[in-house]
Amino acid sequence: MVADKRVITLEEYTIQKQKDFPNATGDLSKLLRDIGLAAKIVNKQVNKAGLVDILGTTGGNNLHGDEVKKLDIFANEEFISSLTHGGQCCGIASEENEEFIVINDEISRNAKYVVSIDPLDGSSNIDVNVSIGTIFSIYRRLSFSGSCVLEDFLQKGTQQVAAGYIIYGSSTMMVYTTGYGVNGFTLDPSIGEFCLSHPDIKTPESGKMYSINQGNFVNFEEGIRNYIRYCEGREEKDQEPYSLRYIGSMVADFHRNLINGGIFIYPKTKSRPKGKLRLLYECNPLSFVAEQAGGKASNGFKRILEIEPLELHQRTPILIGSKSMVEKAEEFIAAGTEAEVS
Ligand code: AHG
Ligand code: MN
Ligand code: MN
Repeated sequence: MVADKRVITLEEYTIQKQKDFPNATGDLSKLLRDIGLAAKIVNKQVNKAGLVDILGTTGGNNLHGDEVKKLDIFANEEFISSLTHGGQCCGIASEENEEFIVINDEISRNAKYVVSIDPLDGSSNIDVNVSIGTIFSIYRRLSFSGSCVLEDFLQKGTQQVAAGYIIYGSSTMMVYTTGYGVNGFTLDPSIGEFCLSHPDIKTPESGKMYSINQGNFVNFEEGIRNYIRYCEGREEKDQEPYSLRYIGSMVADFHRNLINGGIFIYPKTKSRPKGKLRLLYECNPLSFVAEQAGGKASNGFKRILEIEPLELHQRTPILIGSKSMVEKAEEFIAAGTEAEVS
């Protein structure tokens, strides 16, 4: 007998899973398909980045003051267009848009999901051929029907229905969770499909890598500095130093740590007392993935997924990755805070 080696595509997989839930309408599967479709189009453009005129800046800044690259805008437009035409989503909050977008056509306005998205993560790496990504988070709306409202987006991370990311790297992958484990799909360019390549991803309990912008050392609080000293092997006798790996694309740093074990930290700094990364479309989705893979995510004191969002572009400090490493970092932060108070 010949073993069935045929690959399972993203679309087939979501339809198969849908059958496990007798009341499922298939809307979420379609929404994930729409995200996958936009990702393929963005991927194509990412691969051509050196050939067509999409490098360099547009000359403008996004609303957070960061320089906007052309590919950011392309990715933003592509995801918005795919979600708008898909009919499963009544609103989108994007890093690149100050206000959320209401999708008001006859079909979409009554759809039950809203999506928060970082269309292009790691934008400073576009021009230099280094991995970049997309991060997405899906919620069931709180309002019943008609145009979506702000409250639909300001839900705690624990309420996410699905979340994940696409990494445009040495190969392109989509990794997501619907709260029943984490699965990874690699894009096979020859057939243009995301194929299940990493079923039921579990992250190592601990690892040997830490990711932080250590150039900011002088701007970190003492607890984080002490944790860095610990990572360097200075704090505990006979402890082997960890390796420092920092790409500058959160998706890429997170993905490596998810597979190999490790911790990613973006703490508060003197100039950014609330941290840099955004709760709704960077920290919550990756925290949902981390937890579903057996990892952990916190702001130093509290689970990221339990933070109450008060605004669309809210920032938070984040420690995310292997459970025991995040817990160790939290211990250093707690000790640092205690020392400051006393
Ligand atoms: P984005 O490109 O969406 O603005 O995100 C960039 C983020 C994140 O991907 C990365 O981890 C971090 O910014 C890097 O910041 P620093 O350059 O301050 O280390
Ligand atoms: Mn980002
Ligand atoms: Mn971005």
